[in-house]
Amino acid sequence: MDRQLLACIRTFGCQMNERDTETIQGLLAQEGYRFTTDIEEAQLILFNTCCVRENPERKVYGQVEMLRGAKADNPELIIGICGCMPQQKEELTEMLERLTHVDLIFGTHNIHRLPELLHRIKTTGERVVEILDESGEPVEGLPAHRESDFKAWVTVMHGCNNFCSYCIVPYVRGREHSRLPKEILREAKSLADEGIKEITLLGQNVNSYGQDLRLGMDFADLLSELNQVPGIERIRFTTSHPKDISDKLILQLARLEKVCEHLHLPVQAGSDHVLKRMNRGYNREYYLQLVDKVRYHVPDISLTTDIMVGFPGETDADFADTLSLVEEIRYDSAFTFIYSPRKGTPATKMPDQVPEEVKKERIYQLIEVQNKISLELNQRLCGEELEVLVEGTSKHDAHFLSGKTRTAKTVAFPGSQDLVGQLVSVRITEAKTWSLVGEIV
Ligand code: SAH
Ligand code: SF4
Ligand code: F3S
Repeated sequence: MDRQLLACIRTFGCQMNERDTETIQGLLAQEGYRFTTDIEEAQLILFNTCCVRENPERKVYGQVEMLRGAKADNPELIIGICGCMPQQKEELTEMLERLTHVDLIFGTHNIHRLPELLHRIKTTGERVVEILDESGEPVEGLPAHRESDFKAWVTVMHGCNNFCSYCIVPYVRGREHSRLPKEILREAKSLADEGIKEITLLGQNVNSYGQDLRLGMDFADLLSELNQVPGIERIRFTTSHPKDISDKLILQLARLEKVCEHLHLPVQAGSDHVLKRMNRGYNREYYLQLVDKVRYHVPDISLTTDIMVGFPGETDADFADTLSLVEEIRYDSAFTFIYSPRKGTPATKMPDQVPEEVKKERIYQLIEVQNKISLELNQRLCGEELEVLVEGTSKHDAHFLSGKTRTAKTVAFPGSQDLVGQLVSVRITEAKTWSLVGEIV
């Protein structure tokens, strides 16, 4: 055998991309690769990219540029770009022109072709570019190289049909395609056999799972089936689109013991004008009522969200509506974003783009309001005993373990390393804005 082949993969963006990286690593492992985080010792460097905002795109250009010298010194080095960025035609053209030292470009719909594309580069020494416009049926049976022995992501659907007016995802990930329930169940069972305790179901809009399959099975039914898989102790899912949450799903959230008490329910904005122009398909009142209903059925649920500031035309009054919604709902935490215009999306051409300084001022205010709420909600947990899945040792202190509650809160507590991967009971002793501290009971 040749000297050991080492690959370094840098992943940007959402859990979909993280999960795709696991598949890419599974395929590469079959080709004899091992993995490193040290880019300098790798013979294959892959960037699994995200284009949802401008920032992650800029980072990729920066990091790939830095490899020019390495490629000149070592022509055998293979540099590749995959994921969402090259799915945009204009971006692809720019990449091809600017990043002349890149050997391989592929997209989100043809990951399974990676081994063949690599062979082509190795045999011809030429640049290989292959992007498919549409996904078609999900490809099943691909290997995955997972980092964790006790938790795993399980994709339930690919793509998105919603076309929120600011969002590039439907253009780069294609239309919704659900995986067959039997494939998902098979995967969950085999994960459980390998010792996986927690699964997180992934989709851009899991609430519309199954609609395209016409098997009479929806996301709530899928949860019931997965709840019965022995060995799986916790089930999470993301992301839920508010417009597609059914009453049936809310009841299952309350009823199914393995489904965790956490709902990530992106609201984006608190103003009806803005929500309408975003094409979100709901208004403020609907969202507030939905949250009431969820809390009525699952009183201790932890609620998290995504919020964007500076959408075109967002006035001070619109932004005040977002702040008041955040104060009314009291989310456990929120991902906050500054609107970033994306080529080819309708919002880019809307009038009244908000100036950068205004966007920044708004996001600071929003973060301040949310942080205060997050801390207050965490403080209320002091003294409680919570179930924690131990994920590893703390970054700051090796005698401290770190894990997640069912409500998706991070807890640090003293303990020995052999508890990693176990479910333990922890009493909360201290609350911070983004995490908790406790002791094993
Ligand atoms: N499918 C998920 C979201 C995927 S993108 C959902 O609908 O909830 C994750 C988050 O990125 C979005 O919720 C949104 O808040 C943010 N986002 C998407 N496009 C953006 C843009 N153009 N500028 C800023 N933030 C954006
Ligand atoms: Fe983007 Fe909207 Fe689809 Fe989420 S639901 S991926 S925000 S288009
Ligand atoms: Fe980014 Fe693609 Fe996810 S654009 S957010 S990595 S689907």
